Amino acid sequence: MSPDSIWKEQQVSRRGFMKSAFVGGAALSLSGRLALAEQMVSGRLSAEDIHGAGVRPGVVRLSSNENPMGPSPQALRIVADKMFDVNRYSIYTNYPDGYFSGLGDPDTRTPLVETLAEHDGVELSPKTRSSSSRSFGSSSPPPTPYIVSSGSGPLLYLLALAYLSQGGGEVIEADAGYNSVSRKAESFNEVGIPTKVISVPLTADYRHDLPAMRAAMTPNTSMVVITNPNNPTGTLLSYEELEQFVNSVPKSVIIVIDEAYIHFARDLNYKRAIPLALANENVVVLRTFSKVYGLPAMRLGYSVSSKAIQQRILFYAADSIPGVLTQMAGMEAVTDYNHVRKSQQAVWDFQDTCYAAFERMGLEYIPSSGNFLQVRVGKNRDAIDDALDERNVQVSSRGGDRMAEWLRISAGTARETEVFLNEFESAIKV
Ligand SMILES: Cc1ncc(COP(=O)(O)O)c(C=O)c1O
Repeated sequence: MSPDSIWKEQQVSRRGFMKSAFVGGAALSLSGRLALAEQMVSGRLSAEDIHGAGVRPGVVRLSSNENPMGPSPQALRIVADKMFDVNRYSIYTNYPDGYFSGLGDPDTRTPLVETLAEHDGVELSPKTRSSSSRSFGSSSPPPTPYIVSSGSGPLLYLLALAYLSQGGGEVIEADAGYNSVSRKAESFNEVGIPTKVISVPLTADYRHDLPAMRAAMTPNTSMVVITNPNNPTGTLLSYEELEQFVNSVPKSVIIVIDEAYIHFARDLNYKRAIPLALANENVVVLRTFSKVYGLPAMRLGYSVSSKAIQQRILFYAADSIPGVLTQMAGMEAVTDYNHVRKSQQAVWDFQDTCYAAFERMGLEYIPSSGNFLQVRVGKNRDAIDDALDERNVQVSSRGGDRMAEWLRISAGTARETEVFLNEFESAIKV
């Protein structure tokens, strides 16, 4: 969109806003009118001007680390095209050289798994189509290191069940971190399974403190969870740092590397962690379709791991393989490079715009490799959050006590970011 057409669009939406505000606006207070008039004069966008993707008009939603550009159009197209076939269990049957098992059988190599393997550079063993009676824990080796699930959140839960619910154990996670495994593990105590969570503070520059995480391990440690890039700090560990850590940890400890946000790492040569999962029995890498691919409501994620980890996960998994339309959407999204590139660029533009604004405002922020960032707003963080909420700008506060002065802002489009910064600058004066 050219600057000229953006300007035109803004004028049109402002006129519409003015009209509805004043026509039905006998109820509008004097101060409300003054604020409106001020906004018109200054030319500032406000939330009313925003029609975001997948969200109610007039709301700027920067709270859930979603993709503000919307879903992959290629994914939408296949869903629209194939939705008429859902009266069949196996609509992949119509796919060239593809088939689909609705049973969640790990020996079944679906077209989605083949697409993922190609995308991830994972070499699969020659295809087998035999459908002998295979069950979880059987001796026939799964031909792929993948498990596809309804999002990566359920896989984190399954890993907690698989490794921490049998007589308890210890899980190590960073503080501040995503901590969904830790929360699940803690809940086991409520049903009489003693489970310990060891929270290891981040370094002074808000990164995982891998030496401290290693030092915190005891003979009871079952699992360590590393979210990379970390949520909420957005900090990124290098492949070499992770590799060194993996090599230093006993093989009896499961290392979960959650790469939900890995596509937003700006270094195009950044090496992702899947080779570590392929080379080490005790490493599992998780990915999601909820972020760069823009499909959180479709519920799709996957793990890459050894057969030993697959078997433990699948022992606890109900038949939870995602629906066929979801899998098809996933296949398309992975290869929709145009959408991925645009989504990445939107996030990087958001980051640069915010960094410049925060520097101008004299606020500390953490340079992020995720589609969100943390900014330090001070002790009245909650009041600022509320003030933004009142202006229909939704952000979030994550990271617990250690980040009590920080707000987490998820990426928006250029217009959403503009509104956020407008409202943020006045909200921080509360
Ligand atoms: C670090 C991290 N892991 C996993 C998830 C779960 O994502 P989903 O269950 O949508 O795949 C999220 C969601 O925000 C996340 O931030």
